Amino acid sequence: MRVTINQIKEMKPKGEKISMLTAYDYSTAKIVDEVGIPLILVGDSLGMVILGYETTLPVTIEVMLHHTKAVVRGTQHAMIIGDMPFMTYHVSVEDCLRNAARFIQEAGAQAIKLEGGVTVAEKVRRVVECGIPVMGHIGLTPQSVHQLGGHRVQGRTPEAAARLLEDAQALEEAGAFSIVLETVPAQLASLITQKISIPIIGIGAGIGCDGQVQIINDILGSYTDFVPRHAKQYAKLADIIRNAITEYDNEVKAGTFPTEKQSFSMDESLLAELKVK
Ligand code: KIV
Repeated sequence: MRVTINQIKEMKPKGEKISMLTAYDYSTAKIVDEVGIPLILVGDSLGMVILGYETTLPVTIEVMLHHTKAVVRGTQHAMIIGDMPFMTYHVSVEDCLRNAARFIQEAGAQAIKLEGGVTVAEKVRRVVECGIPVMGHIGLTPQSVHQLGGHRVQGRTPEAAARLLEDAQALEEAGAFSIVLETVPAQLASLITQKISIPIIGIGAGIGCDGQVQIINDILGSYTDFVPRHAKQYAKLADIIRNAITEYDNEVKAGTFPTEKQSFSMDESLLAELKVK
C-alpha cells in the first residue's frame, strides 16, 4: 500500500517532519523507496540534472511520463508525484485536466505538482474535483525563471511576502494537499507554515517548514555544474563514479579485466573438436 495524502496531511498536526526527494529512474527510485522516503517527486528538474538543459523549460510531458513510469516501476510504498512541465497546464482548464490525468492513468503516479498560487488556484480546484491530488509550488517557481529575472530569493519585500501568503491560502482553499515553498526567507516560510493547515515542504526555505524536498543529484553530489546554496552534499558521488571509471579504464588497458571470475568457459573436449575441424 502506498503512502496516501491523508497520511501526509496527518503528519503536520503531529509535528512529524516530512522528507521528500526527487527521483527520475528505476534504480534510484528503488533505493529511495527502500529507505522509506514517503514522497518522491519526478521533478521537471530532470531537464537540468538528467538531460543537461540550462532550465526546466524544454521538458515535455512525454519525457515526464517516460521517467514517471520508471519511478513507479521502482517503488512500492512512496507516493509518486508527477511534475507538470511548462505550458501543460497554462493554456486552459481542459488542457490542464487532460495532462494531469495522463500522469495518473498512463504513468501510474498518485498525485501531480504544478507551479503557481492565485493564478492557478481554479485549475487546482478542478483537478482535485476530478480526484487527482495536487501539490502546489510557490516562491521561486523555476518555470517562470525569465519572468522572475533568474533564480532569486522570493518574498523579500512586505508586498511580495503578502502575495506569497495569499498564494498559499489560495492553494489551500483550492484543495491542494501540500505546497512546495522554494527559496524564500526562513522567517517568512515559518510564518506561512504556521498560517496554512496543509503541509508546507520547503526547499531553500529554512528549518521551520513541515518538511523538506531536495533534488537527489544535489544531495548525492552527482550533478557537478553547480551546488545550489540550499543543498547539502551527503555524498560526493561524482568522485566515486570518476574513481571507479578510472580504475576500470586502467584495468582494461592493462589487460587485468576481465579475470576468470567475470568470464565463461566451455568444455575443453568441445573446443578440441572445433580445433580439429
Ligand atoms: O522539479 C523539481 O525537482 C522541483 C523541486 C525543486 C521541488 O520542482
